[in-house]
Amino acid sequence: MADQYAQSGEAVRPSEIPEIPAIPAIPAIRWDEPPEGPVLVLLDQTRLPGEESELVCTDPPALVQAIRTLAVRGAPLLGIAGAYGVALAAARGFDVDEAADALAGARPTAVNLAYGARRAQTAYREALAGGADERRAAGAVLAAARAVHAEDAEASGRMAVHGLALLDELMPGGGHRVLTHCNTGALVSGGEGTAFAVALAAHREGRLRRLWVDETRPLLQGARLTAYEAARNGMPYTLLTDNAAGSLFAAGEVDAVLIGADRIAADGSVANKVGSYPLAVLARYHHVPFIVVAPVTTVDPETPDGAAIEVEQRAGHEVTEVTVPFVPVAGTGAEAGGGIAVAPLGTQAYNPAFDVTPPELVTAIVTEEGAVSPVTAEGLAELCARSRQV
Ligand code: MRU
Repeated sequence: MADQYAQSGEAVRPSEIPEIPAIPAIPAIRWDEPPEGPVLVLLDQTRLPGEESELVCTDPPALVQAIRTLAVRGAPLLGIAGAYGVALAAARGFDVDEAADALAGARPTAVNLAYGARRAQTAYREALAGGADERRAAGAVLAAARAVHAEDAEASGRMAVHGLALLDELMPGGGHRVLTHCNTGALVSGGEGTAFAVALAAHREGRLRRLWVDETRPLLQGARLTAYEAARNGMPYTLLTDNAAGSLFAAGEVDAVLIGADRIAADGSVANKVGSYPLAVLARYHHVPFIVVAPVTTVDPETPDGAAIEVEQRAGHEVTEVTVPFVPVAGTGAEAGGGIAVAPLGTQAYNPAFDVTPPELVTAIVTEEGAVSPVTAEGLAELCARSRQV
């Protein structure tokens, strides 16, 4: 059956698919210091997969805009961006506290964003309090941002190890058929990502039979970004509309759901891309494990439960129009477009960017410190404490 689905999803014959390298030419984020002054260079994710282009941010307001428009996105990468953004403010003579506030508040749900910005801000304040001048304090904040970046890369590798061990334990014998939602790979991380990194590890070990990729309406992170990463890594993947997930479960084609998280409350409630909660309900009904993979920095002990998580509401036009900046994908014959209305003028839209899955629907939360299953407040707190001891 999996092969049938794969075939029906093919847009072009395999011989027509161009060779693409596993790693994009442009990293998701990088700090650079050209003669004109320091900059933060982003891979503009709004233009993928049609075009790999750089977006150069020379000041914090430009970065705030890039965050709001999802040119840079995904919880761990937002943490890295937030930290570098404060470094940019310090290096370019902006008010660091003002920049940290603007960056931390650019999007409300992914707690990593505020974590990265505040950690960098603290490094700056501590350097000044320790007697450093502004130039040296700017160096300290850049070092903090580089540390956030490196720690995320390291955490990604460890999550992949723990996540694959859990998959193997839950489904001995391999041949995993994994469904994922949104985008959780190298595009959102200093390393290879969170949930996607686990699927990639399974693929490298020859144990991934299929990666089912939800398209992820309305901004298509699955179709545009996860399919792009899966193709680059030579993974066996098939794209489906979000609406098709139910029949896929019913057909017995899903062995596990692997998703990331934007914020995990102290009780284990998981905020992730809208559409995750329905998958958790489907998974429970069909007795399929629903696994969340996220670094410890995504766990927010200050948020007691799911009801306390602020869910970002985005503009209605993302639903009423096809608004993804649309760069034609070579070889598909598509025309450039974007902003095309698909609903009558004046239609109101409900467009939450995330939803919240209660802990009782989550089989396990995998972090770089190991997995917690069943998901309890105590288990999560223990993992977080372990991370703080290092
Ligand atoms: O709105 P986005 O694209 O930033 O949403 C991203 C997600 O929901 C991801 O699943 C989440 O950040 C986890 S990324 C490892």
